Amino acid sequence: MLKKLLLLPLLLIVVATVGLNLWGLSHQGTHEPGSDANINPDANRVVVVFGATGSVGDSLLKTAMAAPQVEEVHVVTRRTSPRIDAGVASGRITLHMHSDFTDYTALEQVLRKTNTVVWGLGTTSIGMDDDTYTRIHVDFPMAFIRDWLTYAQTVPRSFHFVTGMGTDPEGDQHWAREKGRTEREMARYAMGNQLRTFSYRSGFIQPASDTINAGHTLLMWLSRPGYLAVTGEELGESMLEISARVDELPNGSLIDNADTVAYAQAYQQRMNTP
Ligand SMILES: NC(=O)c1ccc[n+]([C@@H]2O[C@H](COP(=O)([O-])OP(=O)(O)OC[C@H]3O[C@@H](n4cnc5c(N)ncnc54)[C@H](OP(=O)(O)O)[C@@H]3O)[C@@H](O)[C@H]2O)c1
Repeated sequence: MLKKLLLLPLLLIVVATVGLNLWGLSHQGTHEPGSDANINPDANRVVVVFGATGSVGDSLLKTAMAAPQVEEVHVVTRRTSPRIDAGVASGRITLHMHSDFTDYTALEQVLRKTNTVVWGLGTTSIGMDDDTYTRIHVDFPMAFIRDWLTYAQTVPRSFHFVTGMGTDPEGDQHWAREKGRTEREMARYAMGNQLRTFSYRSGFIQPASDTINAGHTLLMWLSRPGYLAVTGEELGESMLEISARVDELPNGSLIDNADTVAYAQAYQQRMNTP
């Protein structure tokens, strides 16, 4: 009897894991990287990273720093991290300490030349009041796009926003509606302004490979078959690849985990081709 009681939760976990993975497999994979893409070598020349002290942003920063085509990496943040400190010390990163994330006028000189913005700034809705959540996930990125478009001079330009699986402008939950609102609003702002915006509706994003533990590895192993998880590096690489393919995905495209993996693979293939 005791054995059966112990086995039951395990069985439920296995069934739920298999079910979720089957759901992921059947619902993801909207975009396919084209084989004859027009690659613009300047598309990621100047990259700005937001949220670089967080789990997701740290991976985006790591990927940008490692990318040979990225000539300048700028980090906009209110504090630093070991990776930021190391990047500043080596000269790979230009650091911009920032306090008001609704005003970017102080960054005018950087925004003039920016090609790609990877936005990992944001956090969990758990324990956060609705107004604060909206301020961070709607007001901050929308203010940035407004100011960027005021100063921007270089093309191509792209903005990559990490929203999350379950984002839904018509959804029941505040976080899902607000992130969905930002997805739509930023695409609307970008229209006719030579800017493409992309929203990544990721599931679990594994932190950078040099920071993971056994729990992350187990979670990845369990959720990867159905594309419920991606690595942070894959996310960063897919952003750079989508930027570089300037004629492929239109402004406002929603990127799921299977898309992220496909574009990351296209990036890796391109980088490994002499
Ligand atoms: N982690 C995942 O598996 C996952 C999956 C799907 C989507 N996402 C989304 O990705 C985004 C980042 O998630 P995360 O896991 O990286 O979160 P995190 O580890 O908590 O990092 C949050 C980042 O946002 C910055 N930030 C938060 N509130 C801020 C504020 N009021 N002002 C300025 N900066 C602020 C933090 O800066 P400080 O260090 O200065 O606080 C940090 O850089 C979130 O929108 C999240 O929903 C994450």
